[in-house]
Amino acid sequence: MITLELDFPDGRTCPVLIGAGAHQELSARIPERAQRVAVVTQADLPVQVETGRETKVFLIGQGEQHKTMSTVESLCSQFAAWGLTRSDCVVGVGGGIVTDVAGFAASVYHRGMQVIHVATTLMAQIDAAIGGKTGVNLAQGKNLVGTYWQPSAVICDTDLLLTLPKREWQCGLGELAKYHWLGGGNLDALPIDERVAACVQIKADIVSQDERESGRRAILNYGHTLAHALEIAGDHQLRHGEAVGIGLMYAAELASLMGRIDGDAVQEHRRVLAGYGLASELPAGSDNEELMHLMSRDKKVLDAGYTFALLGSTGVEVVKNVDPVLMREALEAVRPSA
Ligand code: GLY
Repeated sequence: MITLELDFPDGRTCPVLIGAGAHQELSARIPERAQRVAVVTQADLPVQVETGRETKVFLIGQGEQHKTMSTVESLCSQFAAWGLTRSDCVVGVGGGIVTDVAGFAASVYHRGMQVIHVATTLMAQIDAAIGGKTGVNLAQGKNLVGTYWQPSAVICDTDLLLTLPKREWQCGLGELAKYHWLGGGNLDALPIDERVAACVQIKADIVSQDERESGRRAILNYGHTLAHALEIAGDHQLRHGEAVGIGLMYAAELASLMGRIDGDAVQEHRRVLAGYGLASELPAGSDNEELMHLMSRDKKVLDAGYTFALLGSTGVEVVKNVDPVLMREALEAVRPSA
């Protein structure tokens, strides 16, 4: 088992347990004072968790369309009807949708209670469950409402990845590809537990310095600005990781048009994405103006114009006031040829 820690300047820590069979560590991680555990999960997940406490399971629906305020409200009402108290514990068991929603509900129910995540997908293990971002979508955009709420522990059982549906695994690879340019390099050469741990370590180092994204944390959104727009434009037919793959290619083309990287670096994006079996072109029929409009609603835009995480000579960094003319040009560069 690999154990990593997120260490925050104020002394808070969040252990992340990574390895085969790690979900069996859950009961030992439930806070002693908790008498009840609310397990938030989805139907048909291939894992049963043992909490060692009085436990009730609360199911949420499958798919981004359930990542909403009304799901959070419904969970909180059910917690209240059961009599969950602030000293009890919420456990989110699932992928990123579950950990985002369970984390949000835990952060607002009784003004905040402990939450532990048992991340069951590659996407959740290397990104969504790590770092304390919670959130839900609005019709206007992804993750537009949420909180920062650190879990007391995150458990990444790599055995659970063996049974992931192919598309779900592929989605995780979109997020994994992002870490290639955040210092991870050739992660596909590593055994799975070390691969997950390498991503968690990169994220832990960034998040522990900038928990509330006042600066550097935004580089974790490499590839995400277009990705979020594509997800909304396609009504979530394109899954998050698939959209991130295209968003990474777009970010490379944009960086190249801005003179930040050369053609070799753009080709490297194409090669890495192809190596992971990820698409790097816009879905057929994508509308530039719709994507531009959706990207204008990105959370980062409000104070600094169009803002992107972009590669440059010193790595990925946050770049403000990006020229919309170049953004449109970069959209053409990732459009499939007719
Ligand atoms: N997924 C980006 C972040 O957690 O900051």
